[in-house]
Amino acid sequence: MITIAITNAKGGVAKTTTAINLSSYLALQGKKVLILDIDPQGNITKNFLDLQMGLKAKGVTMYDVFYKYVIDGKKNIVKEAIRKSNSENIFILPSTLKMEQFKDNISLHSRERSKVLRNIIKPIKKDFDYLIIDCPADLSVYVENSIEIADYIVLPSIFDLYSIDGLSLAIPLIWDIKGKGFENYLILYTMFNPRATKIQAELEQYSRELEEAGKVFEGRVPIDQNIRNAQANFVNLMEDPTYKNSKARLVYEEFGNFVLTNWK
Ligand SMILES: Nc1ncnc2c1ncn2[C@@H]1O[C@H](COP(=O)(O)OP(=O)(O)OP(=O)(O)O)[C@@H](O)[C@H]1O
Ligand SMILES: [Mg+2]
Repeated sequence: MITIAITNAKGGVAKTTTAINLSSYLALQGKKVLILDIDPQGNITKNFLDLQMGLKAKGVTMYDVFYKYVIDGKKNIVKEAIRKSNSENIFILPSTLKMEQFKDNISLHSRERSKVLRNIIKPIKKDFDYLIIDCPADLSVYVENSIEIADYIVLPSIFDLYSIDGLSLAIPLIWDIKGKGFENYLILYTMFNPRATKIQAELEQYSRELEEAGKVFEGRVPIDQNIRNAQANFVNLMEDPTYKNSKARLVYEEFGNFVLTNWK
């Protein structure tokens, strides 16, 4: 199983949208994909379980999995939380808002707080081709755990001051956890507006360095209303023919293809 974490300390930069489209692309190529929703907001859970406004995932969720592991010392329970999604080849480990309060318990009760997820996932490592983790917009213990188990990391970012600043926080955390030599991360610019490329000089310099170091994916996902329409209608942008000319979809396809061919 290849594990890919989607992260950035900044909110609203298309982490979830990237996780949705990358998972869908890989699933359409016949890969068996498990999505781990580790964001208490549960946005990707809602997307793949067709949960309308205000509805929560029923049954065993990642909250129960963390609780039982950390408090009751139960291993081997993650399988109970996996469910089929509304898309072929995509399975989901759902999150709920209760995970928000639980994060402190992970730090308090676990000696190796960033290794909890590694132990939780162990029993299912052979069951899927990919594990895609949709992270919350912070540097919490959930993000630490996600980075810890990731083989590869995608950092979606808008080309603006706060999002690039978010990268400048997330990348040192990656190095803290994985070691400074860790190279398997890539920035994906999202909601790209070619007319708004002016940012503060210091960040301009930082983003240029990232680009020169080969840390930025060539394609930039443009702002595209189709993304919002597909999400609002619980339609899979990648497979619905209505959206076959969507410019954002095309870049997500290129990105998916890059992942499929290069990240082994
Ligand atoms: N290329 C795009 N064009 C237009 N809208 C987009 C695009 N990508 C994402 N969006 C919209 O931007 C909003 C934020 O996207 P998304 O939820 O994926 O971000 P996020 O980083 O996961 O946010 P959070 O930090 O809250 O988890 C959503 O409404 C989404 O539909
Ligand atoms: Mg999100």
